Amino acid sequence: MTQAPQSVPYTTTNAGIPVESDEHSLTVGPDGPILLQDHYLIEKMAQFNRERVPERVVHAKGSGAYGTFEVTNDVSQFTKAALFQPGRRTEMLARFSTVAGELGSPDTWRDPRGFALKFYTEHGNYDLVGNNTPVFFVRDPQKFQDFIRSQKRHPVTGLRDNDMQWDFWTLSPESAHMVTWLMGDRGVPKTYRHMNGYSSHTYMWINGGGEKFWVKYHIKTDQGVDFLTQADADRLAGEDADVHRRDLYEAIERGEHPSWTVHVQVMPFDDAPDYRFNPFDLTKVWPHGDYPLIEVGRMTLDKNPEDYFVHIEQAAFEPSNMVPGIGPSPDKMLLGRLFSYPDTHRYRIGPNYAQLPPNRPRSQVNSYAKDGPMRYEPADTARPYAPNSYGGPAAAVAQFGDIAGWQTAGEMVREAYRLHSEDDDFGQPGTMVRHVLDDAARDRLVSNVTGHLKAGVTRPVLDRALQYWRNIDKEIGDRIAHNVNGA
Ligand code: NDP
Ligand code: HEM
Repeated sequence: MTQAPQSVPYTTTNAGIPVESDEHSLTVGPDGPILLQDHYLIEKMAQFNRERVPERVVHAKGSGAYGTFEVTNDVSQFTKAALFQPGRRTEMLARFSTVAGELGSPDTWRDPRGFALKFYTEHGNYDLVGNNTPVFFVRDPQKFQDFIRSQKRHPVTGLRDNDMQWDFWTLSPESAHMVTWLMGDRGVPKTYRHMNGYSSHTYMWINGGGEKFWVKYHIKTDQGVDFLTQADADRLAGEDADVHRRDLYEAIERGEHPSWTVHVQVMPFDDAPDYRFNPFDLTKVWPHGDYPLIEVGRMTLDKNPEDYFVHIEQAAFEPSNMVPGIGPSPDKMLLGRLFSYPDTHRYRIGPNYAQLPPNRPRSQVNSYAKDGPMRYEPADTARPYAPNSYGGPAAAVAQFGDIAGWQTAGEMVREAYRLHSEDDDFGQPGTMVRHVLDDAARDRLVSNVTGHLKAGVTRPVLDRALQYWRNIDKEIGDRIAHNVNGA
């Protein structure tokens, strides 16, 4: 038996019992065989076999850190949410991610980045699960699964497949805004610290008087937006696939705590029906000129997780976590997401995922939930049913207000959104190409799209892709066609 040095703690089994060896199995004589009674060997092998939870079906590769959100401006006329009241500081967790790649995929693949935030408020967890993009590829949750499959690996070859991607995109013209964004500079941020976050969706805010507003969040990096060229991104993918995870961790360790200034655009509730764009369509922005940004506060990340798996891999963000003063909007994508996330967490982590350290509310939990696999906390109430006459929790509608809803009525249909006066799929991306990008950014866009199309996109998908770009902007489309056709 090896003697443990006095300076280190002694090894135990998971049950805390001192073990006989760190290195040798229990055998009959030095040459074996191994005995079944070596329960410590069996514990080590069995535990190892169960070390993984499934990776997230999307956004598998990510990084995260803890921090604080502090309010810097009075927005109480728009929301009564406790975390947005003047002077308030709230502890939080952030996780940034790529979308389509697997757990070990390079950080610098061209992809949107997830921007998921969890605020531990006095009224429970508020999760703002956004991206580094103000828009998205599709506007109906029915298409999300198909969209993701077109971006993931081909079932036959097991390879990422640009032909599948462009096939889906060109048959889904609502993707044009997001694809333009993705193929531009912001499609590969320099680091997670150098990108903005957006709610993308429209949410509802409700003030203390019960007045409702529509809001979009813009979380702007204080480090400045910066990007990688395709050439640098390709090089880094080989040199250091974890470059963004490393950057975030090391910056925080160095004491360079990244921060972001949180803003909202606020739309009066009654503007929605007649606004020139459907304000709930996730493929559209609200131009800043229509609804200017209003500062809310600043978030700063200053604490790395002490254990990556415990705090980041097991983190469970869910758009359905909305606190009093905040509600959903009629955005169909958002409404679909309200179901999807808690469902995937129950599968990926287990039904008691909310009790794990990153997900555990820092406020009181008075839930009627009980039991289930890996339950850690005792039930919150001795009588697990409501109503009961033994002092069990009761919903406090008077204190927190009523449903964050809106009036609706109509026939049941399966239809696209009703079009607003300026709604079309190519207008806003066209504005971006012509008025937001400068010449150099347009050149890089053309080059990025050309490279992507030349990597395995075949006719007739290729012809549709060229038309798609001409629809966004005739000149850009012609330039891409020229490059691709070599004419
Ligand atoms: P503005 O000129 O007020 O805003 C343009 C915005 O574009 C900037 O504020 C910046 O967003 C963003 N931007 C700058 N460079 C890039 C880039 N390379 N890739 C993607 N976005 C970039 O005009 P509008 O508000 O009228 O919007 C015009 C177009 O700009 C829209 O059609 C949309 O395509 C794009 N856009 C608009 C946003 C919005 O919420 N209004 C947000 C982002 C893009 P930021 O300030 O957030 O960094
Ligand atoms: C992760 C579903 C649209 C942002 C996920 C996950 C699922 C999912 C199942 C994995 C969650 C986990 O295992 O922890 C959907 C569905 C969508 C949708 C069904 C549309 C109907 C969006 C949109 C955004 C977004 C529009 C951004 C605005 C994210 C982020 C993560 C994520 C940031 C990673 C969260 C984390 O860091 O753990 N999504 N998604 N998703 N999604 Fe979505």
